[in-house]
Amino acid sequence: MDELRIGTPLTANATRVMLLGSGELGKEVVIALQRLGVEVIAVDRYDHAPGHQVAHRAHTIDMTDPAALLAVIDSERPHYVVPEIEAIATDALATVEERGLATVVPTARATQLTMNREGIRRLAAEELGLPTSPYAFAESLDEVRAAAERIGFPCVIKPVMSSSGKGQSTVRAADELEAAWQYALAGGRVNRGRVIVEGFVDFDYEITLLTVRALGADGQVRTSFCEPIGHLQESGDYVESWQPQPMSATALARSREVAEKVTGALGGRGVFGVELFVRGDDVYFSEVSPRPHDTGLVTLRTQRLSEFELHARAVLGLPVDTTLLAPGASAVIYGGVDATGIAYEGVAEALAVPETDLRLFGKPESFPRRRMGVAVATGSDVETARARARTAAAAVRPIG
Ligand SMILES: Nc1ncnc2c1ncn2[C@@H]1O[C@H](COP(=O)(O)OP(=O)(O)OP(=O)(O)O)[C@@H](O)[C@H]1O
Ligand SMILES: [Mg+2]
Repeated sequence: MDELRIGTPLTANATRVMLLGSGELGKEVVIALQRLGVEVIAVDRYDHAPGHQVAHRAHTIDMTDPAALLAVIDSERPHYVVPEIEAIATDALATVEERGLATVVPTARATQLTMNREGIRRLAAEELGLPTSPYAFAESLDEVRAAAERIGFPCVIKPVMSSSGKGQSTVRAADELEAAWQYALAGGRVNRGRVIVEGFVDFDYEITLLTVRALGADGQVRTSFCEPIGHLQESGDYVESWQPQPMSATALARSREVAEKVTGALGGRGVFGVELFVRGDDVYFSEVSPRPHDTGLVTLRTQRLSEFELHARAVLGLPVDTTLLAPGASAVIYGGVDATGIAYEGVAEALAVPETDLRLFGKPESFPRRRMGVAVATGSDVETARARARTAAAAVRPIG
């Protein structure tokens, strides 16, 4: 194996990494890379995004425009391109990979398959044979009705291209289908008019299994797992997460097997957030992010290396360590107001909660349901940590 080298930032031999998307997750990846002496270029669609504020250079472009994306990659010549969000021109990433301009993390194909629910679902269920909810795709109200008839109620209807629960609804009876179809039409990112109809999984709990593909001592890619993260979702957005989620040995073993298969099929190196539903010992694959996961913010305090540090190391070809140090939890701080340049009161009160820390993301504009910060806490058990994280998050008051 070649000796891995990291150069000096801002010189000719710098190791350069470009983040595509520079929100709160990207910001932590940037900081992790900075600490390893990497030159970091942060790209987002708006000025002063969280990651912009901690990178060597920042660019504001429309990342869904392939020409704009190729132009910024051409001008910066990064060694690695690290997507942080789904909504990017992934065909441009395929071009970057084909031309050998940079390594796309984890792979261009992984970004293409996971940005579309159809791509990843067909890969998981039809090619890999992984257990999922029953599903069908539809492009008209009639097709939605036929699909729901087959799958049964309740079912979940989602645009094939959307995230954070946008355009998604749970349908309990046939007379609710039309409203769900209209809602999905309005909420899709692109490809408006194509939806997935999924059988509702009545799970006991859901987890994110952070799965890391990194080089082992022998120079081969090895898969390792973080302790499972439990989380609570409200209207498609995570509000609380905790680690470790207690699981039966069988459910944990099955979860790891599913995660290893799906991440292996996507390939490349990096952290993946594998979303799974668990009922008893049964595990259902839901979806996967080929990047750190928002519910994994908890690892900022629970693990020896956070998911962001793990991602940085895995990308660069460095060894990883997924050890959990303490049970912990995270709780989201929402903007609560429509305003720019808001202030935060109650920070001292929040940080007075034992074993608690905060991240305020520094987003220039607040919306009522925009995630502006997060409280993370540890404790002797998950329940203690959850109570601390919730108390700390509630103490922070955004002022418009
Ligand atoms: N088939 C299903 N059965 C039961 N619950 C579901 C189903 N599909 C989705 N959910 C619930 O809705 C949440 C969001 O769904 P999903 O992850 O597919 O959407 P998303 O828009 O990709 O969200 P995100 O981007 O935040 O992960 C899940 O975490 C789960 O709580
Ligand atoms: Mg999800």
